[in-house]
Amino acid sequence: MQRTRHGQTRRSFLRAVGVTGGAGTMFAAMGALGLAPAEATAATPPFRPLSPADFHLTGRSAASVVILGGGIAGLVSAYELGKAGYRCTILEPRDRTGGRNFTVRGGTAQTDLFGNKQVARFSEGQYLNAGPARLAQWMVTLDYCRELGVPIEVFTNVNADAYIYNESSGMKPGHPMRYRTAKADVYGYVSELLAKATGSGALDAELTGDDRAALLSFLEDWGQIGGKSDGYAYKGGTNRGFSAYPGAAGQPGTPLGSVPDVSDVFASAVGRYFSFEFEYDQAMLMFQPVGGMDQIPRALTRAIGAGKVKLGCAASRLVQRPDGVTVHYTDAAGRQKTLDADYCIAAMPPHLLAGLPHNLGDDVQTALRAITPASASKIGLEYRSRWWETDHRIYGGITETDLDLTHVWHPSHGFHERRGVIVGYYNYDETADKYGKMTPRQRQDRAVALGERIYGAKYRTELASSFSQSWRYIPHIEGAWHNLPGWTPDAPVLKPLTAPTGRVLYAGDWLSYMDAWQHGAILSARQAVTALHTRALAH
Ligand code: ALA
Repeated sequence: MQRTRHGQTRRSFLRAVGVTGGAGTMFAAMGALGLAPAEATAATPPFRPLSPADFHLTGRSAASVVILGGGIAGLVSAYELGKAGYRCTILEPRDRTGGRNFTVRGGTAQTDLFGNKQVARFSEGQYLNAGPARLAQWMVTLDYCRELGVPIEVFTNVNADAYIYNESSGMKPGHPMRYRTAKADVYGYVSELLAKATGSGALDAELTGDDRAALLSFLEDWGQIGGKSDGYAYKGGTNRGFSAYPGAAGQPGTPLGSVPDVSDVFASAVGRYFSFEFEYDQAMLMFQPVGGMDQIPRALTRAIGAGKVKLGCAASRLVQRPDGVTVHYTDAAGRQKTLDADYCIAAMPPHLLAGLPHNLGDDVQTALRAITPASASKIGLEYRSRWWETDHRIYGGITETDLDLTHVWHPSHGFHERRGVIVGYYNYDETADKYGKMTPRQRQDRAVALGERIYGAKYRTELASSFSQSWRYIPHIEGAWHNLPGWTPDAPVLKPLTAPTGRVLYAGDWLSYMDAWQHGAILSARQAVTALHTRALAH
């Protein structure tokens, strides 16, 4: 559904460019979108990097572009425009590029809006991806990793041996359930019930005899249930796991016993987690850059040229003129400065842009105000030993819980090394704000106290250090992702941002169908630079 709508949007955009800019411009614009005519109907268009040939500036002087924000959208904008010789300057208020793509290592310092200063004490090689941390195979982010030479490795988003711990439905401290066990029980009982309904004729109006036979055969296999003579009963099975796994001769293994009854299984609410692993943006395999997600902004910044990125520079006013733009900003030394350019790409958080004095008009301001920030927070807990591998046999993946930790991530790299960083909580909305309002020490104490209930004493005794943050309270960002009206960048209220008429263009995940993903930021940036180039050619 989203993909179709996305495709239609691209096609109508290309049609519009073709009408106003001529076939040559249309072709260049298609190149800029990573599309060639024959590929436009493919579900996942093959990726083609932009090249200087996509921008025919011959005979024109290269225009200058000021880019507000050195997050992924701002960096990709400068990177792509730089290929064609546009003169770009990025103004980035933080002391690093990447925006929410933020990897915390030993020595990384950050002070939140409450004045909590943290300096990470992680040891060499250990890190926390405080923002984005996983990439789906179809995402354009992987194409940029390939183009930029950023190595990737598998991110384990799902693990049959990770835990589910739902305390509100009766699980007791020290007794989480393995994913595989929870799945076997839920699939088993769903299969039993559906098989009984099928066998007793309840579905005769919906299914032919052949359909019923095929369905029963599927359910017997999928749910490990008995056959007709057993009343299709679910009685457990090897899919639940073993208390002693099979071994050599004489050691057939002991399947995990005590199958809960059907009402206990549904009451445990473990099934609520199972749809995640086939969501289109979360299904395995997923990937991460080797050495931290910030390898992406680092590589982009190198490719752009660090000299074109002004760190510590916060915009304070944006003025659009008929022939260009002027940005007023405060530099890293606190001096007031201005920068004139032919164009501006505003790639900063929309709600912060709305707070910037500007003359972009009421419609732009209304659009910017329509996108409100959403909250998320994480804590990285570095451990002196990888007890989750040795004691729990969990190698990567996610433990789900109804405690306010919400998600606990086991590291996807460094298996069998000595130390590792667990994401002790990854939560959203009010819960993220609640943690954000605590001191870092209080966050750690709560994360450890709750995590200990799932994993036992080593969750506390093996802890070396922690680093936590809540994106709502991070200066110059103040949000993890966004609440978009109706969750679409094609909402009429956003039209002034996606179809700009002046010299200011807009880019960010918040102007894409993939909010909260670098994929969305990148495609929005490619759309903005294509529109900018089309406009530059027309003048
Ligand atoms: N893209 C974010 C995640 O995967 C929201 O958690």
